[in-house]
Order: sequence, then C-alpha cells, then structure tokens
Amino acid sequence: MPEPITQRVAEVVQPRIPRGMDLLDTPLLNKGTAFTDEERTQFGLHGLLPPCVETLEEQVARAYEAYKRKDDDLERHIYLRALQDNNEVLFYRLLLDHIEEMTPIVYTPTVALACQQFSHIYRRPRGMFIPYPQRNFIVSLLRNRPNLNVDVIVVTDGERILGIGDQGVGGLGIPIGKLSLYTLIGGIRPERTLPIVLDVGTNNAERLDDPEYLGWRHERITGDDYFAFIEQFVDAVKEELPETCLQWEDFANPHARPILERYQDQLLTFNDDIQGTAAVALGAILGAIRVTRKSLNDQQIVVFGAGSAATGVADVLRAAMTEEGLTEKEARTRFWLINSKGVLHSGRKDLTSEQMIYAQPESDFAGWPRTSNGNVGLADMIARIDATILIGLSTVAGAFSEAIVREMVRKVERPIIFPLSNPTSKSEASAEDLIRWTDGRALVATGSPFAPVDYDGRTIPIAQCNNVYIFPAMGLGVVASRARRVTDSMMLAAARTLAANSPALRDPSASLLPPLTDLRRVAAEIAVAVGIAAQKDGVAAHIAEDELRTRIMATQWTPVYASE
Ligand code: NAI
Repeated sequence: MPEPITQRVAEVVQPRIPRGMDLLDTPLLNKGTAFTDEERTQFGLHGLLPPCVETLEEQVARAYEAYKRKDDDLERHIYLRALQDNNEVLFYRLLLDHIEEMTPIVYTPTVALACQQFSHIYRRPRGMFIPYPQRNFIVSLLRNRPNLNVDVIVVTDGERILGIGDQGVGGLGIPIGKLSLYTLIGGIRPERTLPIVLDVGTNNAERLDDPEYLGWRHERITGDDYFAFIEQFVDAVKEELPETCLQWEDFANPHARPILERYQDQLLTFNDDIQGTAAVALGAILGAIRVTRKSLNDQQIVVFGAGSAATGVADVLRAAMTEEGLTEKEARTRFWLINSKGVLHSGRKDLTSEQMIYAQPESDFAGWPRTSNGNVGLADMIARIDATILIGLSTVAGAFSEAIVREMVRKVERPIIFPLSNPTSKSEASAEDLIRWTDGRALVATGSPFAPVDYDGRTIPIAQCNNVYIFPAMGLGVVASRARRVTDSMMLAAARTLAANSPALRDPSASLLPPLTDLRRVAAEIAVAVGIAAQKDGVAAHIAEDELRTRIMATQWTPVYASE
C-alpha cells in the first residue's frame, strides 16, 4: 500500500532556505561547482560536490564542450533546456557568450522541432498548462505559479506554431524559448517570466494518435466557447497578475486579431506576430530609407501579397508616414498592394475592410496592360510607377523576377527590396540574385536567413527581419517604465530606434539590422524610446529620461552568480 501523498509531502517539505540537494535542485539559486567553500559550509553542500571550486567562466567552458558533443540541433536544444532546468545563470551565460550560435537552437528554427517532439522530449515542468476542462479554476491554477512576481507572460494556444501548424500542448515550447530571449536580450529576470499554454485540444491527428501525447486529447474548442475561455483566462490574469505584460503568441489568424482588439485597451498586452513583426519590418525599412538619404514620405511602396502580414506592415508604414506629416489620405496614395487577383482597387468586390484601406481608384488603372486573367500584376505595376520599395509577403517563390528587379533599379538609385516570405523556399527572390541584378545597389532584408553575398569585392551581410529585434526590448521598456498599456506609438518608437541603430548608416556595406551580439545594447536604447512614448501616451507615470535610462539599466539582468 503506497503512503498517502500528503504524508510524503509533510515528510519532505522544509519551509526554509533550501540546503543541500534542495539547493542544488533549485535552478534559480544553483551554482553547482561554483559554490564557494564558505557557501558549501553554510548550505550543507560539502560532500555533495567535487572538491574543486570553479568560476562561472570555467563552468561555461565545460558546458560548451558538452554542447559541442551533441550530434544534432534537437539534441543541442534538449541539452540547453536541461541546463536551464539545472542552473539558470550558467544557461544564460553560455547563451550570452555564444549568442549567434545558440539563439537558433533555443528559438527558431530548432524550437519548431522541440514543439513537434514536445511529448517525447519532456523532462521537467516549466511554465504552466491551462487545460480547457479546468476553465473554472484558472485563478487557482495561476496561484500555483512557480514564482509570485511575474513581469512577462508569453501565452499560446498552440494552433499556429511557426510554419508547422497545430501542435496542441507542444506549442508551450514557443513561450519557453521566447521568454529565454526576453531574459537573454531584454534582461527580464528569469524568475519573473511565465510561459503558458492554453490547452484547448488539438486537431493534429498525428498528435491525437500518439500514445505519448501529453495534452488534452480532444479536438479543438472553437467559436463562442473558445472566446469565452479566453475571456476567463484574461479575467484570471487581471485578478492575479494585473500589472504583468501578457504577450499573445502563435494564435491562428481568425483568433489573433479579435483577441488583440478586444483586450489591448484592457491590460498591458500585445501580439508579437501582428505588432512585433510589423515593427521589425518597419525598423528595417526605415533604416534602409535613411541609408538612401530620402524621407519616408517620398516613398512609393509596392507590397506583393495582401494578406494579414502585408496589411499589418502597410498599416505601420502608413502610421509612420502620418507621424511624419502626411495626411491619412495622402499616405494611402503611396501604397499599391497586389494579391492573387491583382492590384487592390476600388472596383473590386472581394476586399476585406483591412484591404479596402489600400484600394486605389479603379480609374487610375484604365488602359493599363493586363495579365491573362485580366488583372494588373506586379510587372506592369513596376513598369508604370517609380516604386522605391518592393516588399514580398505573398509566399510566391521567385515572384521578384530578374526583369522586374532590373526595371525597378533602372528608375531608382537604391531600391529597397524585401522578400519577406518564409520559409526560404517561398522567398520572392534570393538575396544573391537581388544583389547581382541591381549591381549591388539594392538594400535587401529577408524573412528567412540568407548567407552574406560576395559581390564586386565586397561581402554584403543580409539582414533577416526576425522578431527578436523588438519583443525583448518591448518587454524591458514596459517593465522598466511600468507602463500600463502597449500603444501603437510605443511600437513605432521601437521601430524608429531600431532603424537609428542600423549598422548600414555608418557602413554602406553593413547589414540593415544590428548583429545579435549588439542586441542587449540596442534593446536598452529601444526600451528608453518605448518608455518615453508610454509617458507621452499617458500610459506610464512621467519620469525624467535620465531616470528612465537608469531604471532600464538596473532592470536589465545579467547572468552572474549572486555573491559576485
Ligand atoms: P496570407 O495567406 O494571409 O497572405 C498571402 C497573400 O499573398 C494573400 O494576399 C494572397 O492573395 C497573396 N498571394 C498568393 N499568391 C499570389 C500570387 N500568385 N500573386 C499575388 N499574390 C499572391 O499569409 P500571411 O500571414 O500574410 O503571410 C505571408 C508570408 O509572409 C508568409 O510566407 C509568412 O511566413 C511571411 N511573413 C514574414 C514575416 C517576416 O517578417 N519575415 C512576418 C509575417 C509573415
């Protein structure tokens, strides 16, 4: 007969500072072989550790050696996650020392594999699971959170994970990975981050059929029931963690925008897929425009693709234009959006309200050449107008053909060409082709990673519009400025500061976006701009810029051991 759990708990729980094995099993406090002799005496660690006392640097060297022995990226991911669950300072220091090598392992692209394999590689609990059947107890669940004070929650329902769709409970891998970057780059303290998965079931047959699947084995909850559950979750967050920043992550398109619109004025919240993505693209575009020494309001912008990403990017560009003095009406005349049925114009009956904003008068296209489907397509658009910016968010591989690109560069000294579709196989053009076809004059940023391009004796690095440029900085900014909401101007301020930190401003051969190794510094700069914008919008108490900067520096946590 096994003993009752309550009896066992009473035997093992010691309500005091952990000592001995308990301390070594507390990743936020564990220093492993770096515990000094005095600490080993104080906390009952003698005999539990090898006699040699190491520095953090020596531990990092050993951890890196172990990391290097792993055969594939998923194994490397598992190793790093295990290290995180054992010793958080060591984990973050290792990441910081190898930031370019390891960011793709803890986050995209490797985290996609970790989500798919979640139920098979699961080791220890991290973050919180909120299953639909427990919807009436969400407050009690949140009270079980591992740490009382939380600065940032990243929450997903696992439905639209990166490019791999519905992963059910395995989607938790994304909030875990993303919050690691909030800490690594934004400096949000690790104990003040909380990954959450809302387990509303899954429609992924492979997961449902997998005997090891760890989630709620049920098809997805939809419709009113789904939105009522989200409401229960938000109410619980408001009650338990009213000042915490709640970031929505990888929700399916039909849910993402309605959720954001419903809650963005109710609590400190943002959707990184919608707002963060657009802000990064805007930051890269503004950086490129500065390199051309023209103003944003001089641009003629063609966006190929008119889906949610395309209208999102156009919306922030338009907002930036009106901030720079154009009227709303004038700003709209600078955009030509093209989807699978051709350019958006006033005569079309198939446009959504988001697309209608960009419908140009149908009469403008009278007499223009048409494709075989009777549409005005990309080639004719580029032939007829002097486009300065061409953005691809269409998923149509190769859509930016040599003829189109050569026509664009014939009329513009430094065309800004961003094929942003993911993954690489769907990119509208390769970075190398764009550089070659434009004689090295195009300013290029991409959605997927591309290797630097060697051209005419120069090596041109290609910026990748990755959300990591904004969200950790946004987190730092709202936490340090104690903002109550995330406003559009705060997002614009973040994008503008990212642009101001473009290496291409100082070196024409450099990337449009900063290297990862510089991101902690850039994040602090962005956080200052975010804090100032929050004050201007009346969603943060006023403090002087110097004080804000000091607060940001103090908030940005660095991985060093407590006694150092
Ligand atoms: P979506 O499905 O909402 O939009 C796709 C758009 O492309 C639609 O308007 C569609 O009509 C249009 N399209 C498809 N075939 C076309 C054709 N032959 N000619 C002209 N237009 C065509 O998809 P969503 O969410 O907007 O994403 C689009 C792409 O952008 C994806 O590849 C996504 O990965 C990528 N993306 C990249 C980001 C980045 O920063 N790198 C951010 C967000 C999305």
